[in-house]
Amino acid sequence: EKPKVLITRNDVPQIAIRKLRELCDVDIYEGSYPMPRDQLLARVAGKDGLFCFLTDRINAEVLDAAGRSLRVVSTMSVGYDHLSLEEMKSRDIKVGYTPDVLTDATAELTLALLLATSRRLLQANAELNNGGWGRCVWGPVWMLGKGLSGSTVGIFGLGRTGQAVLKRLAGFNVAKFLYTSTTKKELRAKFNKDAFAAMKNSAVFINTSRGGLVDQEALVWALQTGQIWAAGLDVMTPEPLPTDHILTTLPNCTLLPHIGSSEEGTRVAMAELAADNLLGGLLEDKEMPQRLC
Ligand code: GLV
Ligand code: GLV
Repeated sequence: EKPKVLITRNDVPQIAIRKLRELCDVDIYEGSYPMPRDQLLARVAGKDGLFCFLTDRINAEVLDAAGRSLRVVSTMSVGYDHLSLEEMKSRDIKVGYTPDVLTDATAELTLALLLATSRRLLQANAELNNGGWGRCVWGPVWMLGKGLSGSTVGIFGLGRTGQAVLKRLAGFNVAKFLYTSTTKKELRAKFNKDAFAAMKNSAVFINTSRGGLVDQEALVWALQTGQIWAAGLDVMTPEPLPTDHILTTLPNCTLLPHIGSSEEGTRVAMAELAADNLLGGLLEDKEMPQRLC
């Protein structure tokens, strides 16, 4: 009998679905996203494997609903703050994730967001559309940004993405790099008011990791008071961010809707890797290429 798997959304690159269909009995959720909790709890029951995303919170409740059949959880993401790993370990459930294949895309997005924030690209584009450009024509002190050349760049957590960003910044004449290592303890630390207070008023803060890494109220304070100059965020709390959230009202805050790995080839590679992880965990003759625990 083929292993039974649940995929919690149907807009996954086809290669992953095809791979899974060849060897498994596949149940794909077809409704609007994310999969409603009651449906997830009902349909995970009796499954051997679960193919999920960072929008699915997989905790004890889901694992209980799945029952003893569940052997593998495979997330199509490198981040795993949506997974209760301790619960999975205690039930001998294998967990797969998708590191490495999205590092380049995330590093590129980080650089794009850094440049867009420091040179105020979204504000400048708005001036073009709202008539501001027509009124000022061109101005010697109009739309002034901050350059990377001669600057100091700090990287919090020199992991896969941090190293890839560092490598890409080599061409920008950065004067000095500061970084922290990537031990779990440090990464769990909150980037709080003290951290912002220690920065220069000219600082540009970029976050492409997880919103939860930052004390967001402290960040809003830092942006409102001019304690730091600007922020560019691809991740925040909550996601999706309500359109009337305070962050959306700050002119010195550039916001993106969590698109770090949203690149064509990258998402295909992530989907394929997540499928291979699921198959590797379920089938005797295969290995999990990226097992988290
Ligand atoms: C994206 O945020 C991921 O974790 O893959
Ligand atoms: C800018 O376009 C300049 O000519 O200085």
